[in-house]
Amino acid sequence: MEKTVQLYEGKAKKVFATENPELVIVSYKDDATALDGLKKGTIVGKGAINNRMSNYLMQILEKKGVKTHFVEELNDNETVVKKVSIVPLEVIIRNISAGSFAKRFGVEEGIVFAEPTIEFSYKNDDLHDPLMNSYHALALGIATKEEIDTIKSMAFTVNEVLKEYFIGLGVKLVDFKLEFGKTADGTIVLADEISPDTCRFWDAETNEKLDKDRFRRDMGGVEDAYKEMMHRVFGE
Ligand code: TMP
Ligand code: ASP
Repeated sequence: MEKTVQLYEGKAKKVFATENPELVIVSYKDDATALDGLKKGTIVGKGAINNRMSNYLMQILEKKGVKTHFVEELNDNETVVKKVSIVPLEVIIRNISAGSFAKRFGVEEGIVFAEPTIEFSYKNDDLHDPLMNSYHALALGIATKEEIDTIKSMAFTVNEVLKEYFIGLGVKLVDFKLEFGKTADGTIVLADEISPDTCRFWDAETNEKLDKDRFRRDMGGVEDAYKEMMHRVFGE
């Protein structure tokens, strides 16, 4: 499968067309941004780690019945995925308080919830991805009621599968962000990526942060954290 024209360049990935109108190639970059792109940097090796980890996790999810955009990994940084139109919702699941949840509600990080939470943000950088509920999404015509129900149910299934998988690696899945897409025939599939860019991972013993928060918060040890997650997943 060969890339043809570039269709899109995002903050962390590029998307290319292929000869097949139903497939695109995603190319993962080492570029990192935070705070709506205000903070910019490079995390050496991140593109390959995120590509490989995301593909591996999507294959685990497929086996559990979660439809994803994954088709075939081409090389360390590039993957063939189904062409979808992205539903402009960032779907965030939380198991433990952290980040904007802790800030918004004035609580410390690390409170383990009895039940996971779900929230949506409108995926719009100009508006700084405002929080929205499913009624707002319906009102704005972002998705139908059925699509929103499907997305919620898929997101909770992803959480159950991944929480169990990561605890087996000595990692707490604190929270994560998912994006969903619609294929040409209208099927909702899990899209984008699942990686240390989009998840909070804490070591189960020490609560050491093993994700992009080290970059967001200028904590140092960013590359080592990504490598440690690669090691836990692939033993490399
Ligand atoms: P938050 O606590 O900042 O709202 O982040 C919740 C989760 O979503 C966390 O795992 C990081 C992820 N996330 C993204 O993947 N992209 C984003 O733009 C933001 C703000 C969060
Ligand atoms: N990716 C987002 C940005 O560039 C933020 C984040 O992941 O914290 O703004």
